[in-house]
Amino acid sequence: MKLQKEIVWLGLIILVILVIVMGLEWMKAGQTVKPKSLVMTIKDDARTSRAFTWYTTKLDIASVLQLVKGSEGKFDGENVMEITGSTSSIDTDSHGDQGVHKAEVSKLEPETTYSYRVGSGKDKEWSVPVTFTTEAEELDEFTFINVADSQGITEEDFELWGMTLNKAFETFPNARFIVHNGDLTEDPEDELAWDHFFGKATKWLTQVPLMPVTGNHDEVDGVADRYIAHFNLPDNGAENSIEGTTYSFDYGSAHIVVLNTESNMKEQTKWLEQDLADTDKPWKIVAMHRGPYGGKTNGKVKDWVSIFDKYKVDLVLQGHNHEYSRSYPLREGTIVGDGSNIVNNREGTVYVVPNTAGQKFNEKKEDQFYHQVHFQNEKQMFAGVKIEGDTLTFQAYDVVGEKLDEFVIQH
Ligand SMILES: [Fe+2]
Repeated sequence: MKLQKEIVWLGLIILVILVIVMGLEWMKAGQTVKPKSLVMTIKDDARTSRAFTWYTTKLDIASVLQLVKGSEGKFDGENVMEITGSTSSIDTDSHGDQGVHKAEVSKLEPETTYSYRVGSGKDKEWSVPVTFTTEAEELDEFTFINVADSQGITEEDFELWGMTLNKAFETFPNARFIVHNGDLTEDPEDELAWDHFFGKATKWLTQVPLMPVTGNHDEVDGVADRYIAHFNLPDNGAENSIEGTTYSFDYGSAHIVVLNTESNMKEQTKWLEQDLADTDKPWKIVAMHRGPYGGKTNGKVKDWVSIFDKYKVDLVLQGHNHEYSRSYPLREGTIVGDGSNIVNNREGTVYVVPNTAGQKFNEKKEDQFYHQVHFQNEKQMFAGVKIEGDTLTFQAYDVVGEKLDEFVIQH
């Protein structure tokens, strides 16, 4: 009798376990794999191409990009373009392995709006459709946003980053791309921070290309793998640099060079010189993290400064200091110009640190001879850089919309 009872109980327990296991399997099968951390970049010609990166929590699923002309976002006609990109995986400390998806599209039409979505190719596994517009063939005027050191840890930190970009695009609604001067998150091994970095600014980072610079936090311990896995960037950089940490690209009349102050600096000097010698664009802009003339000088990049002087670079965008600074126009380490807010005839290079787009403010450093503007306002900041023919206008704002600096470079 007792044995019979035990057999019944055992049977019941096995049945319950079976139901649970089958239920879990059924739930797993029904689970959709939504793309996250989607970001658009410029990898090739900004008139005809765009590049994309996204992550998934599931590994080994396809990377599919679909595009269609116009802003309606209907992906069921014969005009839908479909591109299969590459899938890899990365081990992250906080989230285990993540699927890394990269795809690019080329042969787009200039000055044209496209709707796009990314996913595994299966129904219900697509990102929300959004739009972007390619660069015009003949472009007289454009604006881009410049920010630095979003460098957050928590969700609240990245809410500040999201708010900064919201205000930046409210102030410069036609901005065509973003340059970020480095230190995107505090710890690149913390994948949750990346989720928030992209998540709190999805609206902008999926529709306007983000061109990042590698900061000391991004390349912690001399390795930038968890940072660079998140971006699909030009591979035209310096020999032996970590791919994607040094590159240059063109937009309209501007040539923009991104340097990496964290590694392989000597070889970048040669590459920088060649890169600037090769361009015929009238506006030359450089972005780097630990710049030569920020809150204080950084002598480690003095070889690069000689090249900026030689090729008459207009503007150097810097990060790292978490305060606002703008130099007088400089040549060979000396102030040039008339001390006004207008730089004429490529007489000097202006070096800026646009404070921070994150939560961390540093105490204002001692004023240096080259500082034309230098302050700590303890509010997140952004700048709009507008190029219109022979005139570049740089305007810096805080997160609540107050304009705190403005200068003009006149060719
Ligand atoms: Fe920083």
